[in-house]
Amino acid sequence: MIIDERYTTFVNSFLPQKSAFLEALEEKAKKDHVPVIRREMQGLLSVIIASKRPAKILEIGTAVGFSALFMEEISDVPVKITTIENYEKRIREAEKNFQTAGKEDTIRLLKGDAQEILPTLTENYDLSFMDAAKGQSLNFLEDTVRLLADHGMLISDNIFQDGELIESRFAVKRRDRTIHKRMREFLYQITHDPGLSTSILTVGDGVAISVKRGCKE
Ligand SMILES: C[S@@+](CC[C@H](N)C(=O)[O-])C[C@H]1O[C@@H](n2cnc3c(N)ncnc32)[C@H](O)[C@@H]1O
Repeated sequence: MIIDERYTTFVNSFLPQKSAFLEALEEKAKKDHVPVIRREMQGLLSVIIASKRPAKILEIGTAVGFSALFMEEISDVPVKITTIENYEKRIREAEKNFQTAGKEDTIRLLKGDAQEILPTLTENYDLSFMDAAKGQSLNFLEDTVRLLADHGMLISDNIFQDGELIESRFAVKRRDRTIHKRMREFLYQITHDPGLSTSILTVGDGVAISVKRGCKE
């Protein structure tokens, strides 16, 4: 945890309750060790979605569908969500969860590797939520930005990799060094691309928020 645990607990204590279905899904995911968005990320997403009112959302990394269902639940305009997952066991669970929640028509689950699926997509999205394998974020970037509508927003979660990102590469375990390098490259790209405005926030495990800039009239 990057931020003092007590601050996080304090801040999270003000978050409103979700639907009983989502509270139970979050609890089950925790029990099954399935990673889902942290509560502080839920708070941030709620504000972004309430102000931006996206009609179309792209998510990379569905897991069991918690964040997709959460974004649908907090949205106060009709929304279509496309979400991508490549792990068969989680795909089956996500499908079941979308069905049980009665959201199969609102949330479209694309099954397979995001790196192969993204180049085939052509629709524009108002909001993209990148939450898959962190070492691969750089591979997804070009297509994700291409698919963003003008002034569309890209939210990249867990960018600090449980705090490892700010350590020197020599302090990171050898097997994690490639992910460390690739995530730093990803952050460099999104902060130096003249087509994006990006802010890195120390919320949860680190969140980067990027907006696709339009042209001056
Ligand atoms: C952190 S979890 C997503 C959590 C989910 N967004 C939530 O909060 O409920 C990341 C997911 O991305 C999936 N994933 C990783 N690499 C992927 C890839 N290349 N293509 C599609 N899915 C991928 C993993 O299988 C995992 O289920």
